[in-house]
Amino acid sequence: MYDVKQKMNPGFRCLQGGLFSAVSKADVGNVADEMQKRGVDMLSWADPFMPDAVMPEHVRQKALEQIQEGKAVHYTTPIGSSELKAAIAEKLRRFNGFQVDPERNILITPGSDSGLLFAMMPFLCPGDEVLVPDPSYPSNFLNPQLLGARAVSVPLLESENFALDLEAFREKATPRTKMVLLTNPNNPTGTVFTRSQLTALAEFIVERDLILVVDQAFEDSVFDGREMVSMASLPGMWERTVSVFSVSKGMGLSGLRVGYLVADDRIMDVLFGCAVNVIGATNTAFQAAAVEAFRNPDFIQEYNEIFDRRRKRVFELLSGIPGVRLSLPESAFLTWIDVSALGTAPEVAAYLLEHAKVFVNDGTPYGTLGAGHLRIVHGCFRDDQRVYAAVERIRHALLELGRKKGISH
Ligand SMILES: Cc1ncc(COP(=O)(O)O)c(C=O)c1O
Repeated sequence: MYDVKQKMNPGFRCLQGGLFSAVSKADVGNVADEMQKRGVDMLSWADPFMPDAVMPEHVRQKALEQIQEGKAVHYTTPIGSSELKAAIAEKLRRFNGFQVDPERNILITPGSDSGLLFAMMPFLCPGDEVLVPDPSYPSNFLNPQLLGARAVSVPLLESENFALDLEAFREKATPRTKMVLLTNPNNPTGTVFTRSQLTALAEFIVERDLILVVDQAFEDSVFDGREMVSMASLPGMWERTVSVFSVSKGMGLSGLRVGYLVADDRIMDVLFGCAVNVIGATNTAFQAAAVEAFRNPDFIQEYNEIFDRRRKRVFELLSGIPGVRLSLPESAFLTWIDVSALGTAPEVAAYLLEHAKVFVNDGTPYGTLGAGHLRIVHGCFRDDQRVYAAVERIRHALLELGRKKGISH
């Protein structure tokens, strides 16, 4: 039979989207629809309050107005609406400590997933290597591969609270290293990297003349007074960093599909030069709605109070289960647990699906250190009790699994 895949770029050839084989990743193919049809609680999409309706009134009004006035049918410029970029520049000044020119240093993207790949495209060539802290967001391992480069895993150790370890970066760097790809706060571990770790990393990046792509999708939700440091604000970093942001996480506006890139104008000139070819313009009505979210972001505080109490309660519920290890997340609405004593991650995830009727993420795609781990999204559902009930079922199922395996403390 004709094997069309042999015609493909090797970075794409090995991908499987669920059409010819079963895929159990929550974000591939129609797995999510299947789970919801089966009445399973999905604690596996980093989409706040999913599937319940939640939209701040001022954001909703603006989106409706755009539709009622018929403005929504037209494109904005492919690099994004000037009004939105001005609102973002103000947020960058207030929150991230950057002074940027909104017309030269910001580019709006249809969500930050596409923004991440777009940020890397001008830099990565076949044979380049990209240092990626592991575990981290799965696309950090896949995107370099799609561009013909190679993701090189740099371990984040549980025993070191998943801190960045400069020695590990030095060990993994080679003359082919072109880029560091960092997710801060990290998904799935919830770690907020400290100023001293980030300063050391920045010095390494400057010393080796590397490029940094940093994903700050979770920056809005950082707890216990931790400092959220933007890498691009550190000495020597502005001119070599593309910062990637989103309204999907702390603002809970994932369905709007609005993200943005921030970079020096020499990088932006190239990205502006091909924005229309690669990403096209982002949705007009929802860019306008996002302006309102940036101008009046008080709702983020309300969401953070919810995520904060949930992370503490979920931590309590999952603590003390024989064979399970976890720490209190420092940010956002994700809990990362080590279940390696109970089985492989796919086995334990399948057990929870059957016995707890809950779909959680198998940690394997999050890097080589994701093996034996699960990611539980406790930001789902509007009602705390719905989340706690699902996590209670996870607790009972894991206790039962431990008993079956003869595991005690
Ligand atoms: C770390 C991280 N970055 C980026 C994204 C992409 O978000 P979006 O495309 O909705 O902006 C996600 C989504 O889960 C994420 O977890």
